Amino acid sequence: MVDTILNTLHNAFSDLSYSDTYTQAQKCTRCPLATTRTKVVFNQGPVPCKLMLIGEAPGADEDIQGIPFVGRAGQLLTKMLEAVEIFRPNDIYITNTLKCRPPNNRTPLQSEIDYCQDFLLKQISEVQPRILILVGSPAMKTILHPDESISKIRGKWFNLTVDYMSESLRVMTIFHPSYLLRNASKEQGSPKWLTWMDLKEIKKTLDTL
Ligand code: URA
Repeated sequence: MVDTILNTLHNAFSDLSYSDTYTQAQKCTRCPLATTRTKVVFNQGPVPCKLMLIGEAPGADEDIQGIPFVGRAGQLLTKMLEAVEIFRPNDIYITNTLKCRPPNNRTPLQSEIDYCQDFLLKQISEVQPRILILVGSPAMKTILHPDESISKIRGKWFNLTVDYMSESLRVMTIFHPSYLLRNASKEQGSPKWLTWMDLKEIKKTLDTL
């Protein structure tokens, strides 16, 4: 079994409802990103939901609109999800490791990830996904903390023990769409092609649940 923060989903908001936690997030000042953000980007999608996706952090467009994955990378993600018949906002709950935009889209600091982790754990415990998609390295490291790089981990199923169901939670890491924007080839074996294969596998499994 993989040892993970999901083994116990205990978090600072365990005694609050989902909507009270959402309200707390909107006025959060736990870390310095509170002073530079425009909007807190909490989620898009229903609660509960069989399928949940965790990205990295809001970018410029998300910071303005308050919705995750709406910029260029988000549009590519949306198109790829639609290609396997997963439609936003109803079929998938989408969030990020961080709820606020790091200035100039820099990589999230570990301290920011730690401050935000209670929100993420609360979201997972309320959404109760059967499948979790991790998009990019911060999400992968937060949930799976593997020693290996994303190119070794992507496309593999990890089965994690969670306290809201007796079955294991199926977790798969995929490449971040920003990386796919920089690697546009669709040739067999390319990052885009691999991501397409990963999403097809996710959809196939989702349909059995
Ligand atoms: N990249 C992410 O990881 N999340 C977003 O919401 C947008 C871009």
